[in-house]
Amino acid sequence: ATPAEEKDLVIIGGGVAGYVAAIKAGQEGLKVACIEKRGSLGGTCLNVGCIPSKSLLNNSHLYHTILHDSKSRGIDVGDVKLNLAGMMKAKETSVSGLTKGIEFLFKKNNVEYIKGTGSFADEHTVAVNLVDGGETSVRGKNIIIATGSEATPFPGLTIDEKKVITSTGAIALTEVPKKMVVIGGGIIGLEMGSVWSRLGAEVTVVEFLGQIGGPGMDAEISKATQKILTKQGMKFKLNTKVLSGDTSSAEVALQVEAAKGGKAETLNADVVLVAIGRRPYTAGLGFENIGLEVDNRGRLVIDQEYRTKIPHIRVIGDCTFGPMLAHKAEEEAVAVIEYITKSHGHVNYNAIPSVMYTHPEVAWVGQNEAELKEAGVKYKSGSFPFSANSRAKTNQDSDGLVKFLADAETDRILGVHIVGPNAGEMIAEGTLALEYGASTEDVGRTSHAHPTLAEAFKEAAMATYGKAIHY
Ligand code: FAD
Ligand code: NAI
Repeated sequence: ATPAEEKDLVIIGGGVAGYVAAIKAGQEGLKVACIEKRGSLGGTCLNVGCIPSKSLLNNSHLYHTILHDSKSRGIDVGDVKLNLAGMMKAKETSVSGLTKGIEFLFKKNNVEYIKGTGSFADEHTVAVNLVDGGETSVRGKNIIIATGSEATPFPGLTIDEKKVITSTGAIALTEVPKKMVVIGGGIIGLEMGSVWSRLGAEVTVVEFLGQIGGPGMDAEISKATQKILTKQGMKFKLNTKVLSGDTSSAEVALQVEAAKGGKAETLNADVVLVAIGRRPYTAGLGFENIGLEVDNRGRLVIDQEYRTKIPHIRVIGDCTFGPMLAHKAEEEAVAVIEYITKSHGHVNYNAIPSVMYTHPEVAWVGQNEAELKEAGVKYKSGSFPFSANSRAKTNQDSDGLVKFLADAETDRILGVHIVGPNAGEMIAEGTLALEYGASTEDVGRTSHAHPTLAEAFKEAAMATYGKAIHY
């Protein structure tokens, strides 16, 4: 065999973590190769995650608005019909445009793209099974593992991506189910549940805990969100656990009971979406050849500079610690290259925003009330409802609120929590404020254009250190 080519950096995985690190490395002048096995770049996020789900969320929202909400806006529409195949095509067009865009960026930044499955032959050599057949190998002075995550399966329910689906099936259904049951009321359950609910499915979300939204969502915001989604037609069964499922008939029959024990009941559904979290994916990487191990939750253990116990092998993104978010992966990707080239990098894990792209959106950054209470921090809070914001009212889109949590003594912002129209864009302002150590008074004394939704943000800040004007 010919000796493997030596690179400054080899990256396994071409998802958000891997491809961003590859581009950044190219920009820094490193000789870099990125190995990706799925045949297209962008990972979960671009291919089966963030992007396709947002396409369906946006277009199902438009459909739902046109269908149910035109009259009050003075728009008479004719026969409104769903063209599901067309909606899926629009989704595929956005996905393929963006994934091809990354291939272009690879070329522009001199990144070698190797299409195949990588696994460690030794500490510096990655063997690659090529997608188009055959094998190769590549040596790296540095190696980054960025192999991402996969859906956590539900014990006893076999995923066929048709009747029992993960998010991957949920972005590709060919007809609208009559009844859908979602196991897990976290971000995926609520985003994909609301897509199919808007398109006409009767959606019931079964959640083990007493609140929806998954980890991190503030309890008050979660309650408000549940109320809004219920008004939109979604049903919720909280404090409920799924015991087992029977897929032998046309409908799936799920046995559920109260989480703390109680009477069992059966829920029937055409389609069951399993959305109980994701777990790191590191299968087949050949760790046995280099002595790397994962922790009890499947995560690769790293230090502050993303190094494993083999210092030139580093890990970023979903397959290690921290929230499984694309923008978190992206921050780490830039930082890890800075560690490799300059020995210093920076990610502020206290200021990573979370956004749930339902309508209205839910967004937050920093700590929530329960976390502050648990940490014994004395805090104050202030909020402002969108029902008192002129733009939201004019847009007939005024469900929700903005809420600030700030240090009781210094007024420094500790958390911002929003449910409301455009919350996902608005949280950028909260994140910047948190990053720069702003007080709520700093925000409240900053001019915000009128009439904008962002005025609700300013007025919630004013309500925290003083009083809002319009409420
Ligand atoms: P991944 O994107 O999973 O990429 C890892 C890549 O490595 C994959 O393409 C895989 O094929 C490849 N790979 C694995 N093993 C090998 C190997 N041995 N050799 C070669 N290649 C390999 N996050 C957000 O921030 N916003 C959102 O709106 C959002 N929406 C989401 C919606 C859904 C339905 C899902 C499932 C996730 C969503 N996420 C969202 C999460 C986001 O997708 C992930 O946080 C992000 O993709 C993590 O990037 P990553 O590069 O670490 O992993
Ligand atoms: P999640 O962690 O957000 O939510 C899972 C929910 O399922 C939790 O509320 C949990 O209590 C519940 N649950 C767990 N086991 C259960 C059981 N046996 N029965 C009933 N409920 C159970 O996970 P989810 O929604 O699967 O998403 C995975 C990850 O993907 C997210 O954590 C996020 O990192 C990422 N993602 C991000 C998006 C975004 O940023 N907009 C969109 C979609 C996914």
